[in-house]
Amino acid sequence: MRIVIVDYGSQYTQLLARRIREMGVFSEIVNSRFKFEGDEIGIILSGGPMSVYDKLAFDLPEELFDKAIPVLGICYGMQLIAKNFGGKIEKGEIAEYGFTKISLSDSVLFEGIPPEITVWMSHGDVVKALPKGFIQTGKSQSGLIAAFEFKNTYAIQFHPEVTHTEYGIEILKNFVFKVCKAQPKWAVENFVESEIKKIRSIVKDEKVIGAVSGGVDSTIATVLTAKAIGKNLIPIFVNHGLLRIEDMKVPMDLKKIGIDVKVIDASDLFFERLRGVEDPETKRRIIGHTFIEVFEREALPYDAKFLLQGTIYPDVIESAVASKSSAKIKSHHNVGGLPEKMNLKLLEPIRELFKDEVRQLGKILGLPNIFVQRHPFPGPGLAVRIIGEVTREKAEILRLADDIFTKILREKGEYQKIWQAFTVLLSSRSVGVKGDARSYGYVLAIRAVDSVDGMTASWHDMPYDILKEISSEITGHVSEIGRVVYDITDKPPSTIEWE
Ligand code: XMP
Repeated sequence: MRIVIVDYGSQYTQLLARRIREMGVFSEIVNSRFKFEGDEIGIILSGGPMSVYDKLAFDLPEELFDKAIPVLGICYGMQLIAKNFGGKIEKGEIAEYGFTKISLSDSVLFEGIPPEITVWMSHGDVVKALPKGFIQTGKSQSGLIAAFEFKNTYAIQFHPEVTHTEYGIEILKNFVFKVCKAQPKWAVENFVESEIKKIRSIVKDEKVIGAVSGGVDSTIATVLTAKAIGKNLIPIFVNHGLLRIEDMKVPMDLKKIGIDVKVIDASDLFFERLRGVEDPETKRRIIGHTFIEVFEREALPYDAKFLLQGTIYPDVIESAVASKSSAKIKSHHNVGGLPEKMNLKLLEPIRELFKDEVRQLGKILGLPNIFVQRHPFPGPGLAVRIIGEVTREKAEILRLADDIFTKILREKGEYQKIWQAFTVLLSSRSVGVKGDARSYGYVLAIRAVDSVDGMTASWHDMPYDILKEISSEITGHVSEIGRVVYDITDKPPSTIEWE
């Protein structure tokens, strides 16, 4: 039982999915080439930047109106409905953008909602004439058609999913519960069961290979898939030598819950390739390529048909625009790129989940809180946190310092308040005194930021006593570090990582 959202490229599509899940109803985003699977109870056609008369305009999914399933078209979705049934759409002389007052008439969609509300509009084209048989149920202050319907097909020009629209959630609820007759039963708990079934039906008896990076997403995807197909999952953990202490423990943690991970220590090769390299982008490229090379070499003998990826919802660039030429979904490559030569089909069991849902899933699957709450960690690992040339010795120093830093944040209850925190080993050294002797140690920068999605960030207002403890513990236990500084720069102008 799900509500399907056909994505036409609106920036609000994810929000729609989110809102419906918050109502306890599972919703999924698909592109316009989507094929019905039989469990759809409602279809929402999202907004989008195109005009229905564009040459490359995305169309309605095939068989959409053959199924008698309720349909709600929003903005571009509304125009598609109008066009499909013979209505007239024109470039609006007055494109409506932003807050608009509309008046509503009788409709199940608007039950319990005042007859006049303020909504969020964002459109250029307008429906000038309704298709035959359709009834207008909403009119904007400039006299444009703002809503219409026919039987169980509904169309609205405004965006109910954004908070700017008054009663937007109520309108969506009316569609979901009164029109589609959904039952609020979805929760991450049900996801486990249904996803396990889904994985089994996709994979059958084939083998699945997966790269476990030590990060939250790939680990949770591994545990879920192992629950579904057991030994047919071959998780491989490539240690590039640039992981933190807690990442390196992940294979052991998985072993404790019965999942055998093949651990490959490829650190010699990575350090060898990184020798003398100082440029950050070159480091990233070397690590990405070497990772794929090692992973391919290790994975090839298994004759796997699938590659497991811990792609999650925000990684997915599944705009209709991105997936026009193929029904396959483009994904962000978590570990620096996919082994394309291997000709594997992708298995992405958590790709529909938002980060907080992934964390909930981790808990349900029995992973400890401390693991599921971990901060993001970049694929190239400590390499982008060692300024200048990366060596095994520097990685070791940084690993120790980072571990002390993280432990203190956790002990003090500060870790949870921070979006991302880490240490950076600078290439410069600084003079100091240790005991009676002059020392000449590395400078370590500590960075902690508050953010929502990593796109912008502000430096975390860290209590002085914690800073004090971090500094003295690190300089006391990591002899190579002579000075600790706190990074007080926001993003922008700086990035979160130093390289
Ligand atoms: P920046 O440094 O661009 O970071 O402000 C934003 C977020 O992205 C992470 N990051 C990366 N993640 N590979 C990754 O998988 C990378 O090369 C990479 N560079 C940055 C960073 O940790 C932060 O969460």
